[in-house]
Amino acid sequence: MNVMPSNGPRLLQITDTHLFADPAAEQAGVVPEARFRATLRAMAPWAATADGLLHTGDLVHDGSAPGYQRVRQALRSLDLPGLVMPGNHDDRDELQSTFAAGPVRAARTLELGEWTLIGLDSLQTGEVPGHLDESELAALDEALADCSTVYCLVAVHHPPFPVGTPWLDAIGLDNPDALFRRLAADHRVRAVVCGHVHMAFDGHANGCRTLSTPATATQFLAGAEAFAIDRGPPAFRWLDLRADGGIDTDVVRVTGV
Ligand SMILES: [Fe+2]
Repeated sequence: MNVMPSNGPRLLQITDTHLFADPAAEQAGVVPEARFRATLRAMAPWAATADGLLHTGDLVHDGSAPGYQRVRQALRSLDLPGLVMPGNHDDRDELQSTFAAGPVRAARTLELGEWTLIGLDSLQTGEVPGHLDESELAALDEALADCSTVYCLVAVHHPPFPVGTPWLDAIGLDNPDALFRRLAADHRVRAVVCGHVHMAFDGHANGCRTLSTPATATQFLAGAEAFAIDRGPPAFRWLDLRADGGIDTDVVRVTGV
């Protein structure tokens, strides 16, 4: 399936690629590199009809420079401008230096027609849960103040909303209210898009669409009380950002991995 965009820009989201310095490395019963490559092959025809790319963190599992270089090269092959942001497994310095320049960057914003994508950094070094510190919240305020498009979309690795999976809901963003106060005060913000939970979620909170996307690495079992793997395939998400402020979106599961 490869539907054409409706009437606005199309964004493709990939998340939680968890690459290692060694491309053959296994993690939680899968080879993340192989699943990442298969996902990119599946995304290629979609990229031809897309306008932007988003990676919501955990690019690399072991913080290694070769891992970041391979993610960068692979994402560039889709020939789209994009934003990346760190997850709890990332090395912030390595990520920021690797993605300091180029079409896919560790930047704050990316304009896509009448929409602005705003990326936030929720990484707390050495911690699994996420946090938006004062400087990051100030940067969000500044990005919203500078935003001249009709609508906005916020992307952050750690979900500020529960996904109904208790062990993951305990390790999401630890200060969601600070984020939602800002989003609720600005009606241009139509959605918050996340990674981290390695599963699909599509809901609403505080007047805002709340989305998470499966990893390309191993999936987590929805609804589990404690850590549990779902043997499902890798996936990516497409988001059609409509001119009326709505969002058409779904997850594409990658077969044959
Ligand atoms: Fe992850």
